[in-house]
Amino acid sequence: MSCVPAPIDATQTPAWAALKNHYDALQKEGISLKSWFASDSARVEKLTFDVNDLRFDLSKNLVTDETVQLLCDLARAVNLEERRDQMYAGVHINTTEDRAVLHTALRRPAEEAGTIMVDGQDAVADVRHELDRMYAFAERVRSGEWKGVTGKRIEHLVSIGIGGSDLGPVMVYEALKPFADAGIDCRYISNIDPNDMAEKVKGLDPETTLVIIVSKTFTTLETLTNAREVKAWMLEHLKEQGAIDGSDAQNAEAIAKHFVAVSTALDLVADFGIDPENAFGFWSWVGGRYSVDSAVGLSLIIVYGPERFEEFLAGFHAIDEYFQNTPLEQNAVALMGMLNVWYRNFFGVSSHAVLPYNQYLHRFPAYLQQLTMESNGKQVRWDGTPVTCDTGEIFWGEPGTNGQHAFYQLIHQGTAMIPADFIAFVNTENPATDGGQDVHELFLGNFLAQTKALAFGKTADEVRAEGTPEEIVPARVFTGNRPTTSIFGDRLTAFSLGELIAVYEHITFVEGTVWGIDSYDQWGVELGKQLAKQITPAFHDDAALEAQDASTQSLIEFYRAHRK
Ligand code: F6P
Repeated sequence: MSCVPAPIDATQTPAWAALKNHYDALQKEGISLKSWFASDSARVEKLTFDVNDLRFDLSKNLVTDETVQLLCDLARAVNLEERRDQMYAGVHINTTEDRAVLHTALRRPAEEAGTIMVDGQDAVADVRHELDRMYAFAERVRSGEWKGVTGKRIEHLVSIGIGGSDLGPVMVYEALKPFADAGIDCRYISNIDPNDMAEKVKGLDPETTLVIIVSKTFTTLETLTNAREVKAWMLEHLKEQGAIDGSDAQNAEAIAKHFVAVSTALDLVADFGIDPENAFGFWSWVGGRYSVDSAVGLSLIIVYGPERFEEFLAGFHAIDEYFQNTPLEQNAVALMGMLNVWYRNFFGVSSHAVLPYNQYLHRFPAYLQQLTMESNGKQVRWDGTPVTCDTGEIFWGEPGTNGQHAFYQLIHQGTAMIPADFIAFVNTENPATDGGQDVHELFLGNFLAQTKALAFGKTADEVRAEGTPEEIVPARVFTGNRPTTSIFGDRLTAFSLGELIAVYEHITFVEGTVWGIDSYDQWGVELGKQLAKQITPAFHDDAALEAQDASTQSLIEFYRAHRK
């Protein structure tokens, strides 16, 4: 087991008790963003943080100067800074798997080689070595030097992976679309549902397609099943098209030209039939959901190019440095994590919305769901003892303005408080005007209007003053005091996207540290996987069916009766 000290029970610290008293006092005197803004002309300045090209406006959160100080006291009481430094240094803070947690090493510049040794290995040198291999490979594909089995250049990628081996690459692929410059696109297959593969390979020419199998463990049922299916599809279609004769030798050649893999288990990659030359590795100290900036991002390097990927890594690194070197009181990232603790544990909120006002970020909330919920959905602490307070909130969201016409009603007027992060950018890749109106400004007007409405609301008197009939007035009142954080960037680029991802990685770390949990394991996904193996035979095998509970039996009987 690792030598990480037992977690400090945050709920037993004086800082927690002080926060509780402070919370009770605020409730008593009444929380009012309107009056807090009116009485403190420096509020916005105090709670606004400019970090590189991003502005973080925390002023519309339910905090006073005292709250911020008490939250920082709590962070210090649980040794947040020490644990952060341990993580950066490669200490095995992932206790249940006895592993270092070093996604920050993935984006350190080459000059830092030799600074982090993990289990006797130079982490940064290893990272740079693998990046160089990937960059060389990607350039060959991008330039057309790498050819398929019939001598054609690659125009399409199919990336097969799930969870951390899919959500990050898909999200970034979608986010950076305006920067694709090599005439290569990518389709991502993740679900074991055959519908996913069927739709993704539709219309693809296998002669111009390169398949990337991405799996940290190279044992994941979904990924290996899909990989075998795509391999069969590729060989069958190449044969049908007369590109290969179906002999073992030609099949092997086709696989060598059309399949590459990314994994930490390079021996299993070789067993699959992929040439080790065409396999790219990463390390056990990179969690799946923290891996988009490792070899897991190979599809991105091919589509967007090594330079863009370096920019992406630089964005992550800039936030890593900021998070490590900025005092807590001024540290927007640490404060966002502590605000989440404030809402989760003192206000009792159970969900947190992330609302990007940028269509290119439409998969960002889905990506964050794995990052935050697989990390912090835990009921025991890193020493195996039960948690002492609520942990992981539900993260969810959709891009604005679509969300406004769907679920914002509940955020504005529902009975549950839902803290929300609003993300937007000053500049757009696609300027447009409509009758002289800058459409991006129309869009940003919405971004600003929503947080304003949530913070300051609308009183009954204001509603009445608009001539609203008295019986409808209550339905049109907005209470306000619904907390939001605005992240306003210059432009969505590879750099700013790297920054954003790192921000949420560290927010997740901050929350996990306060709760005393190992944010880097994911045992909660195992039982379902085990049971699926036991249950699947029961579709046909009576003995296996007998062994199931009554509900599962009844559902399988329905299946048996209806399967055609
Ligand atoms: O089932 C959960 C999980 O283990 C995730 O943590 C991981 O990102 C995903 O499966 C995929 O795992 P792999 O990359 O090993 O195929």
